[in-house]
Amino acid sequence: MASSSLVFHYSSVFAHQHIACMLSPARVSSTYGTVKVSLEEWRCRSCCFHFRACSCKWKRLVRSCLTNEFVVANDVKYGNKQVVSVTPHLYDYILKHVPEPEILRQLREETASMRGSQMQVSPDQGQLLAMLVQILGAERCIEVGVYTGYSSLAIALVLPDSGCLVACERDAKSLEVAKKYYELGGVSHKVDVKLGLAADVLESLIINGEASSYDFAFIDAEKRMNQKYFELLLQLVRVGGLIVIDNVLWHGKVADPMVDDPQTVSIRNFNRQLLEDKRVIISMVPIGDGMTICRKI
Ligand SMILES: C[S@@+](CC[C@H](N)C(=O)[O-])C[C@H]1O[C@@H](n2cnc3c(N)ncnc32)[C@H](O)[C@@H]1O
Repeated sequence: MASSSLVFHYSSVFAHQHIACMLSPARVSSTYGTVKVSLEEWRCRSCCFHFRACSCKWKRLVRSCLTNEFVVANDVKYGNKQVVSVTPHLYDYILKHVPEPEILRQLREETASMRGSQMQVSPDQGQLLAMLVQILGAERCIEVGVYTGYSSLAIALVLPDSGCLVACERDAKSLEVAKKYYELGGVSHKVDVKLGLAADVLESLIINGEASSYDFAFIDAEKRMNQKYFELLLQLVRVGGLIVIDNVLWHGKVADPMVDDPQTVSIRNFNRQLLEDKRVIISMVPIGDGMTICRKI
């Protein structure tokens, strides 16, 4: 134990009340659901020794309740599974272990100074989207919400030369950046850019007789429209195809009962409807701001 503190999670401490008692003589500080106890001040209530010297039977239990800054849940409620929280430190590690094509890195860096840059998917999300497209062997894809093109470029880069991505965006200015990077990345022949309202574009594809002809769709636009986009894309995507939705955790607000703004409520409702939707099987993935992967059945 390198640090001079012991860090417990509330849940594990409360699961073992006698440990909570043992903690009381030490200086206890709490942050973000953890209890931090100064190691120097910690004294065992049974033998009165410091933590290192103590050999009481409780010490093993105390150790089992110890955690580190990354683990957010590890008690019986979660089947004793250790669930990690992505701290900045851990996220740095993840980014160092996610391959990111040079052209995507350049686009990310150019976008970083632009208004709305926080909307761009993260490199690990881009990599997951690209991998899903590759696993599916997708040829025909749709994206709703392009912005400067990070996720669409990640998808287009892994499409075969004969593949096509319909990229829907209402903002012409950000589309200019996207188009520049499609050129630089050598994928502009695979991207069919549609400037306009996404719902109108999707409806026109259906009218054009393109139902059930797409393999993969990514939704990342106006959150209150998610249900509408989903219904239209469910018509456009074939059985076995995927629809991926971004921002399903909405910075954690979906799980906070005190938050009831219209966007949060609509994402919450949409998440619940997806869970009950018999037309798809889903997986909610805590990557970026949360993505749900839906497979049409
Ligand atoms: C979260 S950003 C997309 C980020 C993008 N996926 C990326 O990785 O860079 C959402 C985008 O959706 C666009 N948008 C919002 N509502 C739209 C609509 N009704 N039709 C088309 N685009 C829309 C916005 O202009 C914005 O650029």
